[in-house]
Amino acid sequence: MGTRLQHQVAWISGAASGMGEGIARLFTREGAAVALVDVQIARGVAIAGEIRAEGGRAVFIECDVRNEAAVRASMEQTVREFGGLHTIVNCAGIVQVKLLHELDEADWDQLMDVNVKSIFLSIKHGIAHLKKNPRSYVVNIGSIGSFISQSSTPAYIASKGAVLMLSKSIALDYAADGVRCNCVCPGITDTPMLRKHLNMNKDPGAALRNRLRRVPMGVPLTAHDIAKAVLYFSCEDSAGVTGTSLVIDGGYLAAAEWEHPGKTRFMEPL
Ligand SMILES: NC(=O)c1ccc[n+]([C@@H]2O[C@H](COP(=O)([O-])OP(=O)(O)OC[C@H]3O[C@@H](n4cnc5c(N)ncnc54)[C@H](O)[C@@H]3O)[C@@H](O)[C@H]2O)c1
Repeated sequence: MGTRLQHQVAWISGAASGMGEGIARLFTREGAAVALVDVQIARGVAIAGEIRAEGGRAVFIECDVRNEAAVRASMEQTVREFGGLHTIVNCAGIVQVKLLHELDEADWDQLMDVNVKSIFLSIKHGIAHLKKNPRSYVVNIGSIGSFISQSSTPAYIASKGAVLMLSKSIALDYAADGVRCNCVCPGITDTPMLRKHLNMNKDPGAALRNRLRRVPMGVPLTAHDIAKAVLYFSCEDSAGVTGTSLVIDGGYLAAAEWEHPGKTRFMEPL
């Protein structure tokens, strides 16, 4: 158990799975009280229960982050439960594999609402609480897709570009209020989202090997790798850092062309 987040309260969206779950677990081990915000009720309730059983402070709040009334209510519930709010982590996200001309308007709106509008709503209804503290934190989850594109995911790539720039904008507008805002940009990370994405291929294992050939470190990242970067931005270890991003990608963005040494290690069979 650490003490980096002692006396802090965090609201974490997407906390019923993958990175959000990893962030919630690490935050509570560092002393934070955490609201796990998600639409997946059974998983969210179970994770919050496990955290409490291990001595952590956690509550699950059902909330569709596209819905303004639900986001506002989740912020109010967090403050009622734990007496304040210091950190907002926007981690909820979805991906769609479709070309632009195949997307329905509803698909586009859904993706933008989950990945981008949710950040707007979290700040709109969370900022007054954050401003009550001398120091507060916002961490948004972008992607390597905030910097480079990939095929067949145009709405996702557009959304992650927006997440990066929105993070900078939030950083500027609330810096004088003691609120720092930064963006964590993961590469290929072993979460239910990645596995679902790979399982859309005829041979998921081959699809994964193909993707990892592009990663110098040769392995997928873990949710815990990403959580550690979010922790850094959510405490005074990163004092003075705002409006920036941290790429956690095993070297993915470092090279346009790169000779693979053939040492790639893979995750467990899918
Ligand atoms: N896994 C990767 O390789 C990868 C890489 C780069 C960025 N990311 C980003 O990381 C973040 C977390 O992804 P993950 O891989 O842990 O995925 P995940 O699917 O395991 O978790 C995402 C969570 O968001 C929740 N969610 C989706 N829509 C929601 C809504 N409307 N309201 C509330 N919650 C909602 C889901 O229920 C789920 O629990 C996402 O923003 C994703 O785009 C993932």
